[in-house]
Amino acid sequence: MEIDHILDKAEASPRALTRAELAALLSAEDADALFARALAVRMRASGRGVSMRGLIEAGNVCSKDCLYCGIRKGNAKVRRYEMGADEIVAEAVAAFKAGYGSVVVQSGEIASPARTAFVEDVLKRIRDAAGDGFGITLSLGEQDEETYMRWRAAGAHRYLLRIETSDPALYAKIHPADHSWQRRVEALRALARCGYQVGTGVMCGLPGQTFDSLAADIEFFAQIDADMIGMGPFIPHPDTPLGASAPWNAQIAAERLDLGLRMIAATRLYLHDVNIAAATALQALAPDGRERGLLAGANVVMPNVTPARYRADYKLYVGKPCIGENAADCRACIQRRIESAGGTVLWNERGDSPHWRKKCSHS
Ligand code: 5AD
Ligand code: FES
Repeated sequence: MEIDHILDKAEASPRALTRAELAALLSAEDADALFARALAVRMRASGRGVSMRGLIEAGNVCSKDCLYCGIRKGNAKVRRYEMGADEIVAEAVAAFKAGYGSVVVQSGEIASPARTAFVEDVLKRIRDAAGDGFGITLSLGEQDEETYMRWRAAGAHRYLLRIETSDPALYAKIHPADHSWQRRVEALRALARCGYQVGTGVMCGLPGQTFDSLAADIEFFAQIDADMIGMGPFIPHPDTPLGASAPWNAQIAAERLDLGLRMIAATRLYLHDVNIAAATALQALAPDGRERGLLAGANVVMPNVTPARYRADYKLYVGKPCIGENAADCRACIQRRIESAGGTVLWNERGDSPHWRKKCSHS
């Protein structure tokens, strides 16, 4: 297949490619043209601006047991922590004062009436302190629709829930039997009904995953009409069932990073106007991984603003960067890195997805 022809078609209009064409981009011999076109489409959608979200890793207690994840409940080696409400609010407000236009509150999955009320209280307090213009994104796993509704009413307006893979058979291989792909899709639909900007994404480089499957992932993002995409390379964690058996060496790491970048670029070329994060997992594989993500079409970065003392305990994969740094270190570092990739940091801006803004103006 002629790559230039596919790139022309993709650049001209969103959702123009077939699955085979998407797979051809992901597996093309030379990715430089792919990255350059994706960057051009990003510039057209959102210019040089890079949106910032301060990431608060609010706790690593998790009721799930995903076979790849370092904080799965079955990993007895993890020292568990939960930040208190005062502490989460203080970190969010500190991020606001440091110029972050939005924060992401992420934790392991806990679903209970007490948890719903706890998060609701945190949201109201952040909202009161930082005002309506401040962006609050949640990444707290699968919850029932009523909980999503209450959190939305309390001030959250974006939610991240990766589907991990759009292939139910592959999903079943990387999760225990009681984790349901269908339930996750339903959760994504519930989030949209509640009025959130919805973010999803996948891991790339999972055992048994094919280019066709990754191309189908990109089609899935379009089908559920996602506003935001967060994707990252799968990085084996030795204390997990999937990580213990997965091969790993420098060459695999380099290939995995390349695949992660190709997924960003192909997603940008297919969806055009969504927000796409340059995931921290990219930086785990190369010091300049996030900058390369921006140059491959991403427009969002999520620097860690978690208090330094917790960072080492929130390890989903090995090689997580920024463990020894604090929020101020990460802020200065990321500004330098974004500018080195030709970007402009959008401090003090909420950074809503252009796709979302268009949807709102049509309804
Ligand atoms: N490698 C890469 N990403 C991982 N995640 C969990 N474990 C790993 C891993 N070993 C990702 C999942 C999850 C997100 C919070 O972290 O995609 O949705
Ligand atoms: Fe599921 Fe952490 S145990 S993503």
